[in-house]
Amino acid sequence: MIAEDFYDGLIAEWYDEWLKDRRDDVSYYAAVFAGFRGRVLELACGSGRVLLPIAKQGVAIDGLDSSRDMLAKLAARLKAEGAKAGWYQQSMAHFDLPHRYDAVFIAAGSFQLLITDEEVAGCLESVRRHLRPGGFFLLDVFVPWEAIRQQKTAAFTVARDNQRGDGTRCVVAERFEVDAARQVVRSIFRYEVFRNGRFERSLLRDFPLRWYWEDELAGVLRRAGFSGVELLADSPLSLPGTWFVFKATAGREQRFG
Ligand SMILES: C[S@@+](CC[C@H](N)C(=O)[O-])C[C@H]1O[C@@H](n2cnc3c(N)ncnc32)[C@H](O)[C@@H]1O
Repeated sequence: MIAEDFYDGLIAEWYDEWLKDRRDDVSYYAAVFAGFRGRVLELACGSGRVLLPIAKQGVAIDGLDSSRDMLAKLAARLKAEGAKAGWYQQSMAHFDLPHRYDAVFIAAGSFQLLITDEEVAGCLESVRRHLRPGGFFLLDVFVPWEAIRQQKTAAFTVARDNQRGDGTRCVVAERFEVDAARQVVRSIFRYEVFRNGRFERSLLRDFPLRWYWEDELAGVLRRAGFSGVELLADSPLSLPGTWFVFKATAGREQRFG
């Protein structure tokens, strides 16, 4: 059992609102797994933005996340939509599940939430251990160019300002500093919630995000023992130099779909 997690509470409450217009990765992963006959695991599945449409296609899928509240949202959505999926509250930095999988994926750059080399190695070792022979690992990552160019912001800058029909509003402001040596953007996020125009509560959270260069991540995957590492340059999510999609196989190659 994991104690209070970064994504618990206020963040889980607002996450779906913040991401409601992002559809490109949802469509991409839904297309990858359309008609897929094997068992799939999404790491850092959150509230199921990507997982749910795959589960609704009838694909056997499980999700893993460290946040109790994000998983509670996933469970509620699965129930509401009449879809089936398993879910586990564990850290992707080291996990142990009762199943083996034909595909494991991490969407939306969530792999970059693992900061230390130990966490990264633990995650990749766990992925390999859970893949059946011939299974594959798929992930997308991005280079946070804007932060890298700016290096640092002295003051908080509003990053999101969302209003809901129930009269609540959440203003998210960010301040960051780039740790170039470790390739980590160290952000502090300030969340302020208002109800009918009156301040209700606020929260400050540290949010580190690691980035990788294309060749570097290929090397990290190879050194972790993946036998085939491929940059999917034709993926609709790819943006050369900025957004990379990697597929890595653990053993015999398996085709999508
Ligand atoms: C940006 S959200 C992505 C959620 C979902 N995949 C999506 O695309 O909407 C990141 C998710 O990673 C989860 N997370 C962060 N660190 C984690 C860790 N070490 N192990 C498991 N989940 C983690 C958070 O709880 C959160 O749900």
